[in-house]
Amino acid sequence: MTTQPLCLPTVYLNGAYMPIEEAKISPLDRGFIFGDGVYEVIPFYAGRGLRAVEHLKRLQRSLDELDIANPYPIEKWLSVIGTLIERNGGGDIAVYIQVTRGVAKRDFPPPQGLTQTVFLMANKLATPKPELYENGIACVSLDDSRWLRCHVKATALLGAVLLKHESTQAGADEVVLFRDGYLTESSASNIAAVKDGVILCPPLDNLILAGITYELMIELARKNHLPLEVRRVHRREVKKADELWIMSSTKEVVPIVKLDDKPVGHGENAGRPGPVFKQMRALFNDYKRNLPAEPVLKAAE
Ligand code: PDD
Repeated sequence: MTTQPLCLPTVYLNGAYMPIEEAKISPLDRGFIFGDGVYEVIPFYAGRGLRAVEHLKRLQRSLDELDIANPYPIEKWLSVIGTLIERNGGGDIAVYIQVTRGVAKRDFPPPQGLTQTVFLMANKLATPKPELYENGIACVSLDDSRWLRCHVKATALLGAVLLKHESTQAGADEVVLFRDGYLTESSASNIAAVKDGVILCPPLDNLILAGITYELMIELARKNHLPLEVRRVHRREVKKADELWIMSSTKEVVPIVKLDDKPVGHGENAGRPGPVFKQMRALFNDYKRNLPAEPVLKAAE
C-alpha cells in the first residue's frame, strides 16, 4: 500500500481546476473501458518546459493516429498547463496530460462527435538521485510483446505494465526490449547503446516512441560531434555494448550497468557508467540549466 499522495493537489478536468478528490469521470469513458486515449508527460524545471511545444506536437500526432480531434489549440494547452503549475506552487514539475475519446455506450466502433475527456495532473518531478547516475540500473532483456503502434503515446499500456512487472519480479529495475532480434526500447523510456565510441540509436519507426529526450540526446550528440548512428541494433551488439543508456522525460539519461545479471561494458568500465554517458550527461545538464525560452505559459482565464 502506498502512502504517497496521488499527485499534487490541484488537477484540471474538462475545463475546471479542482482538488484531485473532486475529479470524477464516467465509468463509461472510453479511456476507462477501452484505453481509448492518448497522453503526454512534460517536464518543467522552475516553470520552464523542456520542449513543451514538441510534447504538444506529439500529442497532436497521437490524437491524429486515433482519429480523435484535438480539443484545444496549442495556446490553450500552454495556458492550462501554466495555470496548473501555478496552482500547484511551481518548482520542478511533471505535467501529465490525458485526452480520451469521451463517454459513450460500450461499443467497439468509435462514435463520431463525442466530447473528449481532458485531464491534467501535476507531480513533483522526481529527478533521479545523483547515486543513480553513479551506480546505474540493472535490466533484463525480454521480447517486446507490445502492439505494433508503439509510436502512438496511447494510454492502453498493458503491454508495458506486464513487461515492467516481469522485470520487477526478476529483481531488475527495467527492461531492454527486442523485437525479431533487434533492440526497440524500454517499458517507458528509449534506449541507446555505445560501441567503440559510437552511439547506436534505434530508428524512429512504429516500434518505438519518438522520445523527446531521445531526440534531444541525438541532437546534442550531433551538435557536439559525438559519433552517432541511427540504425537497427541487433541483440548481439547490445550484449557486447560498451555502454547502454535509457532516456525519458522523468528519468533524463540513466546508465544501464547490468544486463541479465552480467556487467555492461568491458575492462575498467565494466558494470560502471561509461565515458560517453558522462559526456552526454554533462551536455544534458548544461541544456537543462539553460533551457531555451518557449512560448510563455499564460495563466488561463
Ligand atoms: N514515458 N518510450 C516509451 C514507451 C515511453 O513511454 C516514454 C515516455 C519514452 C520517452 O519519451 P520522452 O523522452 O518523450 O519522455 C520512450 C513517459 C515518461 C511515461 O509514460 O511516464
